[in-house]
Amino acid sequence: MNAESLPWIADPERRKAFLEQYWYYAMELAPGVVTPGQRFPNVALTRDLLSRVELDGTRCLDIGTMEGLVPVLLKRRGATDVVSIDGLDFSDKVACVKAAYGADFAYLPNIMSGSILRALDDRYAGEVTRFRYAGGRKPQRGFDVVVCSGVLYHVFSPFHVLATARSTLRPGGLMIIETAALPLDAYMMQYNFAGTGYVLGPSDTWFPTVPLLDHFLRFLKLMPLDACWLRAGDHLVRFACIARAVEHRPTLPQETLMEQAAWNLEYDTLLRSDFVQEAPTMPVTYVPADPRPVYRPGLGTCDLHATMRTRLPLEPALDRIELRLDHRT
Ligand SMILES: C[S@@+](CC[C@H](N)C(=O)[O-])C[C@H]1O[C@@H](n2cnc3c(N)ncnc32)[C@H](O)[C@@H]1O
Repeated sequence: MNAESLPWIADPERRKAFLEQYWYYAMELAPGVVTPGQRFPNVALTRDLLSRVELDGTRCLDIGTMEGLVPVLLKRRGATDVVSIDGLDFSDKVACVKAAYGADFAYLPNIMSGSILRALDDRYAGEVTRFRYAGGRKPQRGFDVVVCSGVLYHVFSPFHVLATARSTLRPGGLMIIETAALPLDAYMMQYNFAGTGYVLGPSDTWFPTVPLLDHFLRFLKLMPLDACWLRAGDHLVRFACIARAVEHRPTLPQETLMEQAAWNLEYDTLLRSDFVQEAPTMPVTYVPADPRPVYRPGLGTCDLHATMRTRLPLEPALDRIELRLDHRT
């Protein structure tokens, strides 16, 4: 089935309007029919990390899915169940993308980041009821792979969103994060308004440094494994990393108070350790890029900032930015 055979595109006028509307991605919907798309290069970072994950048979969540490029790739690489979520509602476009790529994934629109856990809970409750009455595969709650790409710098509380994403990940699972970031060796976030004007678009918010992101991840029981980046203007970068859900907080010697930091009254309401229960714990396989990530001695985690500094910035070819019908990664 291709885009031309979809009912709302069969009419030539509607097809033209549909294709000419705002599209975030340049995606081929039928041979030679490509949506206009903005061709932002950062999705190439997420694709690069995803291409090193063994996705066969996995359950995946894509937070901030836009028009569903990431879920298409997850399905094509063998993910069994893919749930995609977004604060916007692009149901018509996502339906078209699903049909064009023959990719069967769930799309939950109009879910703001603060409502993700409730939406997933409701979905799970519905699946349990269906299972009781109709049988089939036993529903599961946690995800093996969670992607949160291009979202953190759009939200007012990036730590809350990281904690939400982490809450949905089962132990041994992998999380991919991509965001606009400050490439400084410091622990801070720059706000998008810099006194003389906005740094990026007016609806953007915070740009964390990479060491801060590394600290946040470990504080949320995530073990950083690898990173990649590309240049974005004068003083920002686009940065992506992958981290594994673990049962402890990988703590540096100078972070001995990290355990007490988790006594903060909000912490347990943000990192919901009860959200994923009875999930498998087998590590999802990730094959690191070359040159190898810089590991922290004795901790087993990758030092994200040091790794970034050893890696050249990605300069993605157009075919890593656009999605074509024959792409698998
Ligand atoms: C820059 S796009 C990134 C799209 C895609 N994940 C990628 O990396 O190419 C940001 C996406 O996050 C969604 N988003 C932004 N803020 C959000 C929020 N607070 N809650 C839910 N979704 C949000 C937007 O609707 C959009 O789909």
